[in-house]
Amino acid sequence: MANASMEMPIESTLEVNESKLLAAGTRRKIYRHPETADKIIKVFWDDQIPAKRRAQRWDRWFKSVRRFDDNENDYRQYLRVKRRFGKAIGCIYAIYGYADTPFGRGLVAEHVRNADGTTSETLVSYVQEHGPSRILPSLDTLFEELAKFHVVAKDPHAENIVVRELDGGKLELVLIDGLGDNNVIPFATISKALNRKKLMRKKLSLRRRILRMGEGG
Ligand SMILES: Nc1ncnc2c1ncn2[C@@H]1O[C@H](COP(=O)(O)OP(=O)(O)OP(=O)(O)O)[C@@H](O)[C@H]1O
Ligand SMILES: [Mg+2]
Repeated sequence: MANASMEMPIESTLEVNESKLLAAGTRRKIYRHPETADKIIKVFWDDQIPAKRRAQRWDRWFKSVRRFDDNENDYRQYLRVKRRFGKAIGCIYAIYGYADTPFGRGLVAEHVRNADGTTSETLVSYVQEHGPSRILPSLDTLFEELAKFHVVAKDPHAENIVVRELDGGKLELVLIDGLGDNNVIPFATISKALNRKKLMRKKLSLRRRILRMGEGG
């Protein structure tokens, strides 16, 4: 007879450690996946775990934990889009699900890389290095795609977008953070037309920022 413990699901923890740290944001650390170069894992800094933040903040009274959880917001928005359009879309990073790590639960997602295998850099560092002119047409494409696929993006700023260099040198912008709707009444989720309008406003301010960065500002 099978031993009861043998029938228990095996909970594996991904072997992530500081040597695999790829980048760090203000809320999440980004680690390389231990088994494949195609994936990364997003884990909260210890003091940024959503439940802890909620307990510390005055607005805990009327906001749910979920709305503080960047991983969950990104994941839900990704699944919503994928479900509606039946495929992963190139302008947002693909998200595969959750996994345990020694630093807590992490979000397993696509490692956005260039044709040569290197990690795609953020829009900020790209513009600082290469100037704004090559990137502007890709900015139009990104926001057009987001609008077309009704992706709700609360925070599409220059640190949350990376520049993927494709074979042949073509550039593609990918949103890697800030998905989801942060409004109590999610108007942008309800109305595709309103979402497009909001996205185009955000694109204009991002465009202005890129041009200012190009002038060294
Ligand atoms: N999927 C990815 N592929 C490649 N690089 C990534 C990816 N996700 C994140 N990065 C890198 O890690 C940095 C931080 O990631 P992210 O913006 O998700 O963290 P965060 O803490 O949620 O951000 P914020 O500081 O905006 O709160 C990004 O600016 C980017 O350089
Ligand atoms: Mg970010």
